[in-house]
Amino acid sequence: MKPDSSFPRLKGLTFSIQTFGCQMNKHDSEHIAGELLACGMEQVKSIEEADVVVFITCCVRESAESRLFGHVSSIKNTALPASSPLTKRVIAIGGCIGQRDGEGLLKRLPHVDVVFGTHNIESLPALLERTLQSEDHVAQTLDASSSFPTDLPLSRESAYAAWLPITIGCDNFCTYCIVPYVRGREKSRPQEDIVAEARTLIADGVKEITLLGQNVNSYGRDLYGAPRFAEILKAVSDTGIDRLRFATSHPKDLTSEVIKLFGALPNLMPALHLPVQSGSNRILERMNRHYTKDHYLHLIDQLRTACPDIALSTDIIVGFPGETEQDFQDTYDLIERVGYSQVFTFKYSPRSGTPAASMPERVPSDVVQRRFDGLLKIVEDHAHMNNAKELDAQVQILVEGTSKKNKGVLVGKTPKNQTVHALLEPEMDIEEIRGKYLDIHITEPKTWYLFGEITSDPYE
Ligand code: 5AD
Ligand code: SF4
Repeated sequence: MKPDSSFPRLKGLTFSIQTFGCQMNKHDSEHIAGELLACGMEQVKSIEEADVVVFITCCVRESAESRLFGHVSSIKNTALPASSPLTKRVIAIGGCIGQRDGEGLLKRLPHVDVVFGTHNIESLPALLERTLQSEDHVAQTLDASSSFPTDLPLSRESAYAAWLPITIGCDNFCTYCIVPYVRGREKSRPQEDIVAEARTLIADGVKEITLLGQNVNSYGRDLYGAPRFAEILKAVSDTGIDRLRFATSHPKDLTSEVIKLFGALPNLMPALHLPVQSGSNRILERMNRHYTKDHYLHLIDQLRTACPDIALSTDIIVGFPGETEQDFQDTYDLIERVGYSQVFTFKYSPRSGTPAASMPERVPSDVVQRRFDGLLKIVEDHAHMNNAKELDAQVQILVEGTSKKNKGVLVGKTPKNQTVHALLEPEMDIEEIRGKYLDIHITEPKTWYLFGEITSDPYE
């Protein structure tokens, strides 16, 4: 990429991006990396090696915020790299927390230099240049623009699996959720742009595309002619991408038309993340979710009719204000009936400014903990049972890399998004087989992953 000469102070500096949060935040980080590389900066992994550290953060739950504050405080004690031309490391915070807190963050964390929001990631180079020039601390957050932002540079984390945003923002205002306040109203990207980006990704060697949005199912409501999500799925499937996925889906907007595509589009992978949040109709109503437990279970039936082997995952919030033992039992019952491959459980975390934060009837933390622990047990049992069914199965994985704990073990994903581990054979070079498909015979299903033997030749 050609260095951007408008920011002379950035040229040659190293940067590290630390991301806490969802895929949307991770995708924003890919844009930021693209922008900073275009300014002639060099990307490094660790904070220790970096002249500039950019934190991209999520504020959906308090835990992500606490992690951010811990990291930012500990940086004060980390020395700059010996070769650094700076006298002090530059720290920037962006993402949802930047958008929500703006200048307030500079007051809480006085050694932070730059704060930016979710709608002005393209101004980061200018803000960094300003802080380097004047040693002033700068905060800038903008309101959402009225159209879908395009043409930002991008440096993808993976060469073969890509996120492709189709909507940004959210109009749903679930009562516990901060996202609509920090990401703005829902905006859809025109179909031609989505298909054009899918084609470019394929030409770049990408094998797997995940269509991205807070609620991809409501795609198109704000566009002329109101194109539907099913049309987008078909159009992207028609580009010939090997593997197609999407996230996230709101049950109230998941149509029969989309469900049927699971059986019909050969490259639409048999896995769906469908957050239910609670199995109690009373709590669902208080959450402003606009569906009932029965409606959700009906969707699951339809999905399993269209694609019997589909792998389902969900999100659950435990301890929403007013959750009684009976409400919790309803959630437990729903999880038992669906038999998810994976369940992400979260303790309710009050987010200031959301309607639920001022609801009375907080559930005491010991009760939340007991319910949370109760769910983990059943979630683990189901994950174990689902994986046990794969013993002796022959699966095809897309190779991602090696295990963080053991460089001799390769890691890949099946169409159902299960993680597979297998021993890397001595003659195999991971750099050569990353992004290739391998056939694996599953010999040892574990609870959270499958272990197997490679049965195909990656060099063929
Ligand atoms: N407290 C706990 N969990 C939350 N989530 C969103 N907001 C909150 C909150 N205030 C969870 C939901 C959502 C996931 C991304 O995070 O389950 O699906
Ligand atoms: Fe938050 Fe609800 Fe929008 Fe999801 S659909 S981002 S939970 S408001």
